[in-house]
Amino acid sequence: MKTDVSKNSANNRIGIGLLGYGTVGKGLESLLTDKASDAFFIAKILRRISKANRSDMVESIEDLLSDPKIEIVVECLGGIEPARTYIIEALKAKKSVVTANKALINRFGDELDTCAKENGVVLRFSAAVGGGIPYLSTLIEVKKHTQISAIGGILNGTSNFILDKMERESCTFEEALSEAQTLGYAEKDPSADILGWDSLNKIRLSGVIAFNTWINIDSIPCTGIDSIQTKDVEFIQSLGYHIRLFATMIKTNLGHSAYVEPQLFNSDNAEATILSNHNIAWFTDMSGKHQALIGQGAGGLPTAGNILRDLYQIKEDAKGMLPEERSLKNIDNNELSHAYLVRTSKSLKSGFLEAITVFKWIQGNRIYRITKNIQVSRFHNLMHQLKQLEPIFYAGIKKKENQ
Ligand SMILES: NC(=O)c1ccc[n+]([C@@H]2O[C@H](COP(=O)([O-])OP(=O)(O)OC[C@H]3O[C@@H](n4cnc5c(N)ncnc54)[C@H](OP(=O)(O)O)[C@@H]3O)[C@@H](O)[C@H]2O)c1
Repeated sequence: MKTDVSKNSANNRIGIGLLGYGTVGKGLESLLTDKASDAFFIAKILRRISKANRSDMVESIEDLLSDPKIEIVVECLGGIEPARTYIIEALKAKKSVVTANKALINRFGDELDTCAKENGVVLRFSAAVGGGIPYLSTLIEVKKHTQISAIGGILNGTSNFILDKMERESCTFEEALSEAQTLGYAEKDPSADILGWDSLNKIRLSGVIAFNTWINIDSIPCTGIDSIQTKDVEFIQSLGYHIRLFATMIKTNLGHSAYVEPQLFNSDNAEATILSNHNIAWFTDMSGKHQALIGQGAGGLPTAGNILRDLYQIKEDAKGMLPEERSLKNIDNNELSHAYLVRTSKSLKSGFLEAITVFKWIQGNRIYRITKNIQVSRFHNLMHQLKQLEPIFYAGIKKKENQ
């Protein structure tokens, strides 16, 4: 739907209403200020009651939406409510919306997209995947001339920062997480990053863009990095591997397979070279051509960079991002299997683990095992049960580029 934002703007600059003044909100402000944008300016910022301490700050969404200078609202609050309600109010007030909120778009993307169309405005969310990497917009472009067969990569900058720091500095998980929070890479509550949910939201959102299919989120196996210890990282390094939190979705003969889990990569894999808070986001097309984008996947300025791209897209009359036709399916992981590294304590007894073990190392009170190839969903289910007994750690072992 065509928007007429540029026509309404005083001095040819488009007024932005910013919701939220945290890492990303401040990033956008400094991007627009430092670059002295001749296209956009922040007209008003919504802050919590008693925090609106500047003349351009307001405490109510009504005060922001009633400002005629504001033609685009940028949501940087995070979470579901009140972000969802505020976005609906903005769309109904005929303001296009840009958000970086992958959790919200995952749950309410259809509703918000419909609301945008009904009101003749646009909803965009490029920054919801890949931080500063233009991944979703690239998938949209690529799909115009070829079909995509697989997507994936390292989609969570916080967990990559933690794993890379543990590898290179032999620090503890807690030390690495604390530094990620200090640097603004980890959100205030880091659960979504370290438990893999952030990567899960991102791969699912990338999946609807790449395959026109929302995969039922509860059907995707997902495990994070919360139980990794310094000794695990040292052991993985001694085997010649790097560890990364990996997410993928693949179009198969039967439907779509997908998972999120820590994986081991040897140095031949591009993932092994991804350091700090960087992401790698790749896609493979039906001819087997594999292409990857690498960049900063977290942090205020990089994320604001993708938001700025969306602002320009809206200025140039781009459409919304969700495909017109979308189906909803469960995952089908029957065709997907690989080996795993598993660490348990010596006291944990599991006949299943024993039966699938190919190699075993005993180190003090720990047992490290390499398993034979095993179906991914089945393995995750069984490990989920064992995790109720103790905080075991496991990671897939990467074989092919798109598995
Ligand atoms: N950080 C990243 O690297 C990154 C990368 C990609 C995408 N994102 C996404 O960007 C969004 C924002 O993330 P962030 O890291 O900027 O979060 P953040 O640092 O926690 O900032 C959120 C801001 O929103 C404000 N806020 C929350 N609820 C509010 C309310 N009801 N009324 C007014 N203000 C409210 C907070 O105020 P208080 O400080 O007063 O609580 C804070 O200023 C999230 O959806 C996140 O998933 C973040």
